[in-house]
Amino acid sequence: MSLVSGPGRAASSALPDEIQLAIEPHVKYIQSLDSRRNELEYWLTEHLRLSGLYWGLTALHLLGRPDALSRDETIEFILSCQNENGGFGAAPGHDAHLLSTLSAVQVLATVDALDELDERGKGDKEGGGKLAVGKYIANLQNRETGTFAGDEWGEEDTRFLYASLNALSLLLLLHLVNVNKAVDYVVSCANFDGGYGVSPGAESHSGQIFACLAALNIAGRIDLVNVDKLGRWLSERQVDGGGLNGRPEKLEDVCYSWWVASSLTMIGKLHWIDGGKLTEFILKCQDTKQGGIADRPGDMVDVFHTHFGIAGLSLLGYPGLEEVDAVYCMPKKVIERVLGPNK
Ligand code: FPP
Ligand code: ZN
Repeated sequence: MSLVSGPGRAASSALPDEIQLAIEPHVKYIQSLDSRRNELEYWLTEHLRLSGLYWGLTALHLLGRPDALSRDETIEFILSCQNENGGFGAAPGHDAHLLSTLSAVQVLATVDALDELDERGKGDKEGGGKLAVGKYIANLQNRETGTFAGDEWGEEDTRFLYASLNALSLLLLLHLVNVNKAVDYVVSCANFDGGYGVSPGAESHSGQIFACLAALNIAGRIDLVNVDKLGRWLSERQVDGGGLNGRPEKLEDVCYSWWVASSLTMIGKLHWIDGGKLTEFILKCQDTKQGGIADRPGDMVDVFHTHFGIAGLSLLGYPGLEEVDAVYCMPKKVIERVLGPNK
């Protein structure tokens, strides 16, 4: 039985405690993450530190607690991860990577500190500031095909194409790359089932579909999508328990509440899944005492699934949450401040 109705209509007061969003425990869980330096897991996840900050901070903003982490410490940490080539590493001393660079730009945009790049950013050889970050990203575009590598070592993936357009658009530097070629590349990744993969001919995957749709959206070319075919494939990702999977025959997972539901939102078909059942599934994956959300009920929580679970609930209109932008996976308020209301 579905205890909540459809998207935007979740009547949280009618839900029993174990399936209410445990806001305070989630805030405390995220705040505690940086104080766990005596735990092995903290060091094993160092390669994800900067993205971890993006996930935690964004979740806090969506929970309506933007001040739960120190703004000054956030900015200092981000700046300490920048390399001389303008890109950002996952932690101080790490080589630059596109995904950490995207997270750095997203976090600075969220705390309204992008101008700090012009005042204190590195990238001397490139003249410093936002432009140095933009040039680092632009250099990763394959000018022949239009797609992007994640770093100078060269692996290409539609995730990186999206990450580049996302970060460059927030920096107001999209003109540094060939957007039309990037759009052509995304179109060449479309499959007969309406979905998209990592490269032309690669199997459709919900994460890659999110990346491709969001990239087309930033480029203003969502008109190139076969909405009905893709909408059907995406809505088939909902399994009996209400959760969503990434591909046929795979298990449901909270992070796909984001990759699939944001994709459906971008093509105007979120109502093709049962929002009430998905809301219930995400809420069942919470640790309501210690805070945090896991990939599936009963599993260990982590900040990645906590963020994507809360972002998914926001898309579904869960009461009391800040609205999330389906393209940028950041609070709508922030996107409107940076790009204007008609982005
Ligand atoms: C599945 O990952 C997800 C994707 C392939 C999309 C990832 C997109 C980014 C990392 C860009 C940044 C995203 C945002 C929201 C700013 P997986 O490797 O866990 O897939 P699996 O479930 O098949 O293992
Ligand atoms: Zn997952």
